[in-house]
Amino acid sequence: MPPGDRDPQEPPASVPRIRVADEAGVAAAVAALEAGELVGLPTETVYGLAARALDPAVVARIFAAKGRPADNPLIVHVSDLAALEPLVTTVTPLARELAATYWPGPLTLVLTASPHVPAITRGRLSTVAVRMPDHPVALTVLERLGQPLAAPSANRSSRPSPTRPEHVLAELGHRVALVLDGGPCVIGVESTVVDARGDRPIVLREGAVTREQLQVGSDTGRGETDRSPGTRYRHYAPRCRIEIVAEGELPVAAARQLAGERVGVLARRSSVTELGRDAVVVGAFDDEVELARALYGAFVDAERAHVDVLLVESVPEQGVGRAVMDRLRRAAE
Ligand code: TXA
Ligand code: MG
Repeated sequence: MPPGDRDPQEPPASVPRIRVADEAGVAAAVAALEAGELVGLPTETVYGLAARALDPAVVARIFAAKGRPADNPLIVHVSDLAALEPLVTTVTPLARELAATYWPGPLTLVLTASPHVPAITRGRLSTVAVRMPDHPVALTVLERLGQPLAAPSANRSSRPSPTRPEHVLAELGHRVALVLDGGPCVIGVESTVVDARGDRPIVLREGAVTREQLQVGSDTGRGETDRSPGTRYRHYAPRCRIEIVAEGELPVAAARQLAGERVGVLARRSSVTELGRDAVVVGAFDDEVELARALYGAFVDAERAHVDVLLVESVPEQGVGRAVMDRLRRAAE
């Protein structure tokens, strides 16, 4: 295509798809949501693909846009505790305590659903997952809209979650009405999902609120069957191989790759300096918190750089490191 020519597949330049989250941007998002459309919404964890949670026809559009299996339920987002009550049969004392401590924030509570929650939203389970995101843009949109939003991560099913607005467009394109720009996500991995129906939290998906914070051990004594339905599926996978490398073993691992392979690297700053010139460094970090923030963006950058294999230096399974390693292992499967 000659330079300057527009790709006919692309939307006209006059249609702003990523919108600044100012008054006009928020108003446009609320109007789109009211009309039953899908909106890319920033949260502190990852960008969500938001739509009205209590309208089954609208929720069906989320499943279609993501190519998501119907038995994988969505998280319902609220902007205040009062909005939780009509969604569930009982707010247990444990849920009340966890919400008081972690909301707004990256903790999703699974409780018994009330009949108000459409079956499609909860993947036909008897429970519903609810969280209050800690992002001013998400909270403002929820307040203005005045009703809860279902918002899975704004990626196509099995792909890495988006942590920047342009990732949402690259993944979903015309399937969203617009994406509100909330900047890069501060946390970078998804919320922790806990079953809060009993006396103690049961972790169903590792996430940004850590087991140390929740004071639950790594083994709840429960099996795979208790995990969130979504954790059964292949996940977070970029279009290149992912290989997890033990701390400090990066030069050896890089040397081991096949001749002619393009190698990408996501590693500690101290390890990156020891590499040869050939590796494509798509990200560097000092600890697990920084790796969480960089992870999905590095996957996207590795794809864009056409690497064959991305070597990721592992972090200890502590704090958010547990969620990071969980995502990495799934991506490397
Ligand atoms: O941080 C997050 O949680 C992001 C942002 C956008 O809020 N959302 C997100 O949604 O990660 P999604 O759909 O990508 O992941 C939701 C996870 C899935 O693993 C799903 O199976 C689980 O939550 N889940 C939803 N409802 C559930 C329920 N009733 N019981 C058990 N797990 C549930
Ligand atoms: Mg997801």
